[in-house]
Amino acid sequence: MHTIGNKPIMGMSHTAEHDQPFNFEYPDLENPKNYNSKADKPVMTELQYAAYLFEKIKTTMRLDRFVSETTGMSRKEATKVLQSAEVTIDGVVQKKAALQVPDDAKVMWNNEPLELIGPTYLMMHKPLDCVCANHDSRHRTIFTYLDVPNINKLHTVGRLDLDTTGLLLITDDGQWSHRITSPKQQCLKIYHAWVSEPLIEENIKAFAAGLELTGEDKPTAPALLEILNEREALVHVHEGRYHQVRRMFAAIGNNVEKLHREQVGSLRLDADLAPGEYRVLTAEQVALF
Ligand code: URA
Repeated sequence: MHTIGNKPIMGMSHTAEHDQPFNFEYPDLENPKNYNSKADKPVMTELQYAAYLFEKIKTTMRLDRFVSETTGMSRKEATKVLQSAEVTIDGVVQKKAALQVPDDAKVMWNNEPLELIGPTYLMMHKPLDCVCANHDSRHRTIFTYLDVPNINKLHTVGRLDLDTTGLLLITDDGQWSHRITSPKQQCLKIYHAWVSEPLIEENIKAFAAGLELTGEDKPTAPALLEILNEREALVHVHEGRYHQVRRMFAAIGNNVEKLHREQVGSLRLDADLAPGEYRVLTAEQVALF
């Protein structure tokens, strides 16, 4: 384990190359002179820089950001709350937005403790008739099923239609969700489809060859159609176009009556989750993407 003083540095690679002991004082990286430039020699090794970032993130945060991250307020709202003398650190009223909050400080807002929580990663069994949106005037949103802190910071990783059920990922980590939804990643999604017309072998070839979707120039990327029985199939796709699976079946003259997402990447929907239920992903599951 790498350490700084007696503090462990978590999550670092542990190779011999990175394992050299080092002494270093945290440089002032707010000062542009200390940034590495291509022409300059690096001012720190990779490990030192990672250690610096770890310590900086772990030990301090500006007070306005701290209030905003723990309450979901905007930075502007947090500044107003600070100016109204509603926030204390270790029992002392603090109004200065730029004040650095140490890791072990007890921060209170109107006598309620404010605690930082790590990023959130959830798996939900999306039920029927709810939308993947933060607000909707006509339908229930998937967020109304959640009882988690910082709910207004969460977003769904891609969307499922109102009448699609199944695996939905929800997070506040934009980079993580981007890795799943970015077309470049070609992340696998597996859907179970129930259709109105009999499925035939020819359909497998059509899905593999790519289908012309109404209103689009480019055919779909090769997809795998696994026929389960005359009116049920699994569809493996690596794209995420609007209403993609329904439109693919429409392109072969069929009609999806029911659609359920079983898998994203190698992550399958937990069989224990009933529609509307959710749970936190394990660290291993988060690391899949
Ligand atoms: N394809 C669809 O047609 N709908 C979904 O909800 C997901 C994929």
